[in-house]
Amino acid sequence: MRKPFIAGNWKMYKTPKESLAFLDAFLPLVEGHTRDEIAVFPTMSSLGYVLEATVGTNVRAGAQNMHWLNEGPYTGQTSPTMLVSIGCRHVLLGHSEQRLYFNETYERVNLKLKAAINHGITPIVCVGELLAEREDLKTEETLRSQVRAALRNISASEARRLVIAYEPIWAIGTGSTASPEVAAEAHKIIRHELSHCCGEQTADNTRILYGGSVKPENIGALMQQEEIDGALVGGASLVPTTFANIVHYA
Ligand code: PGA
Repeated sequence: MRKPFIAGNWKMYKTPKESLAFLDAFLPLVEGHTRDEIAVFPTMSSLGYVLEATVGTNVRAGAQNMHWLNEGPYTGQTSPTMLVSIGCRHVLLGHSEQRLYFNETYERVNLKLKAAINHGITPIVCVGELLAEREDLKTEETLRSQVRAALRNISASEARRLVIAYEPIWAIGTGSTASPEVAAEAHKIIRHELSHCCGEQTADNTRILYGGSVKPENIGALMQQEEIDGALVGGASLVPTTFANIVHYA
């Protein structure tokens, strides 16, 4: 009942031209694929082109971040109404690179999450612990507090479209994936905290994706875990054949 979701986070890669070349190769490889929801998250300068090129296909496109207000004197920001105006209905929020390098906080993620919900944008909220937190046995505490802060004052009906991505920071771009069991354990913690925040039914219906060095070689084993409802893929989503192989996991 939780439809698997395979998402590609393109980070700060690909010009519009490169993004369209990706789609030329990728769309035929996943044509007719309905088992999983598929989305890519290009950088802002490519997003409009990718949205246009994916109209009528089974691939969605979303933004990597957004502001929570509709407009204002906020240089460098893009608002939810601006995203909706170009047909964008998905957004990544709280990615660890935003938190580590651009001082993103879960208080702001909460504001953005509310704004996304109010504008009918599907939010993918990223959470995940540092290596030091895992080594200090603080994974559970970290994940719970991240989920709690992001979902502050969000009701069960508002959380209906929510997607969470569990992305342990030590696994992002490092080549060392969390084992399927370690990832599933973290997903359980997140789902448990979700049920505290928004009720059991919402927790049961919320898709929790795993992210961090997902590749064609490890996606199958990850997806075998009942707790894992999809993947947020960085590096391996940049190459059409590789990302298509991930989408077609067995
Ligand atoms: P990675 O990135 O797959 O390159 O580890 C994942 C992410 O940052 O979303």
